[in-house]
Amino acid sequence: MGDNGSVWLPDPGTTLAGEVDSLFWFVFWVSTVIFAMVVLAKVYFMVKYKRTSESDVPEPVEESKALEAIWIVVPTILVLIVFTWGFDVFVKLYSAPPDSYEINVRAQQWSWEFSYNEGATSYTELYVPVGRPVKLNMTSADVLHSFFVPAFRVKHDVIPNRYTSVWFQAEEAGEYTIHCTEYCGTQHSGMNATVVAVSEEDFAAWIAEQSQDLPPAILGQQVFAQCQACHSVDGSAGIGPTMQGLYGTERPLTDGSIVLADDDYLLESIINPMAKIAEGYQPIMPAGFSALSQKQLDGLVAYIKTLE
Ligand code: CUA
Repeated sequence: MGDNGSVWLPDPGTTLAGEVDSLFWFVFWVSTVIFAMVVLAKVYFMVKYKRTSESDVPEPVEESKALEAIWIVVPTILVLIVFTWGFDVFVKLYSAPPDSYEINVRAQQWSWEFSYNEGATSYTELYVPVGRPVKLNMTSADVLHSFFVPAFRVKHDVIPNRYTSVWFQAEEAGEYTIHCTEYCGTQHSGMNATVVAVSEEDFAAWIAEQSQDLPPAILGQQVFAQCQACHSVDGSAGIGPTMQGLYGTERPLTDGSIVLADDDYLLESIINPMAKIAEGYQPIMPAGFSALSQKQLDGLVAYIKTLE
């Protein structure tokens, strides 16, 4: 639920969200009225035609042509309205304008990676310009995920070995929550991110800043955003060991041996997480991080070394 929405729906954040809502409320209220009519009629008939004695035999019922015509014609019209209206909104929702700004989205257990044409990559924040259509080309590195921004009313499965897409045009600068809505394993519920909608100028500035060559530890800190669902950096317990104070210490493993947490151990634990399992933890870390570039891996190791 959004910060400013009603109990029912978060505030609509895109040009199309309002149209989705109108259709939703139309279907909702038509259904509610019909439901109420059916229930009230049922209660009325229960009272009116209640059998009062053993000898009570009901009168034969005569059909009413007018009544039958009404309950055939009216629902048919309602269904046709919902169909044409729904089809219209559907086509709009799935037809990205040709001048859309495109961003590649890669889902993996349990994080999102957003890659921009200019070379920038972000993980926990999806930066988009306000007032410009944005199209997301999405795919998954492992299992089924689903990309959902409640405030934007866009949701689509993210599937390995296939591209799916959504598009939206954010209307106001602000932050909007992204959820994964396809159960994808242990940390599914933690697989969230944020859409950060900023002005065109701020977006250009952000892109320029991101595309610079970063010092390894800074790059590593950015890449580490996709590890935070499982690994803390402040010593707090998580599904995996905290990274704080890890480097340079001796680590007990589940097989009873002890290993020194040096650069090689860190690198191996990222690209081949099943090789050495830290004592007290389950062997559940996804293998997909071996797909990170050498630069990103170097950055991660450099960053973890800074967490004293
Ligand atoms: Cu990814 Cu649920």
